[in-house]
Amino acid sequence: MRWDPARYAAFSDERSRPFHDLVARIGREAPRRVVDLGCGPGTLTATLAERWPSAHVVGMDSSAEMLADAVNVASGHPNLSFEQRAIEDWSPTAEDDVVVTNAALQWVPSHVSLLPGWLAAMPSGSWFAMQVPGNFDSPSHALMRAVAADGPWASALDGVLRADPVLGPAGYLELFESNGFHADAWETTYMQLLHGPDPVLEWVRGTGLRPALAALDAADPSGALSSAYESEYAARLRQAYPAGAHGTVYPFRRVFTVARRS
Ligand SMILES: C[S@@+](CC[C@H](N)C(=O)[O-])C[C@H]1O[C@@H](n2cnc3c(N)ncnc32)[C@H](O)[C@@H]1O
Repeated sequence: MRWDPARYAAFSDERSRPFHDLVARIGREAPRRVVDLGCGPGTLTATLAERWPSAHVVGMDSSAEMLADAVNVASGHPNLSFEQRAIEDWSPTAEDDVVVTNAALQWVPSHVSLLPGWLAAMPSGSWFAMQVPGNFDSPSHALMRAVAADGPWASALDGVLRADPVLGPAGYLELFESNGFHADAWETTYMQLLHGPDPVLEWVRGTGLRPALAALDAADPSGALSSAYESEYAARLRQAYPAGAHGTVYPFRRVFTVARRS
């Protein structure tokens, strides 16, 4: 699936806030190596390099498009580098004292079965901090699936949109505590006030809608099928998230876990 960094950056304030809320809870001083899994364009990874100047900070992402600007980001930070690699192919080294992953593991549904192996390989005193969206039951995502299941695009979208790629905070708390980590897990619903026409559609176009659009464009390269699907979905979103006097409120639940190896 191709990413579009410019579209993703359109809501950079709203998208970066959970990253800062997440890493604020990491208590580690002077880590040797810091890894950012699914780092995207690398601008947030750079803040880790600034926070821990004596650490080697590595951002990893599978998307060449997302990493396109990472060379420029790294050039201003001697302790920062980037690697193009799939999260599924990664495992921690004995020097990975901090692992951060923000808004990425929902794209790796196998992360729940991969986590015990990752945690077992991490050194003592290490920290693992993760944030995933917990909004797969929200109208934006439920409607995405409902519209996908009912229309001329249904066969092209069969099995493309997952309903349950993440756990809730209690699930992650149990998982980390069962694997030798002390965990702090919580959830927050951000009341995001968006502006402009169809702002929720604009939001999901940068992330959750991308697999559907990619599948539709593969099935019909003319783009007619994806336009028809999007326009039906947009109409349903307008009903679910009407514009108000101050903008369009898009509540967004996110699930956080910050854990330290015992
Ligand atoms: C929503 S963006 C988050 C980017 C960044 N962490 C941030 O907070 O802005 C999700 C990122 O995960 C990456 N990603 C998705 N699946 C991946 C995988 N299997 N392996 C590595 N990266 C992946 C995407 O390429 C994308 O850059």
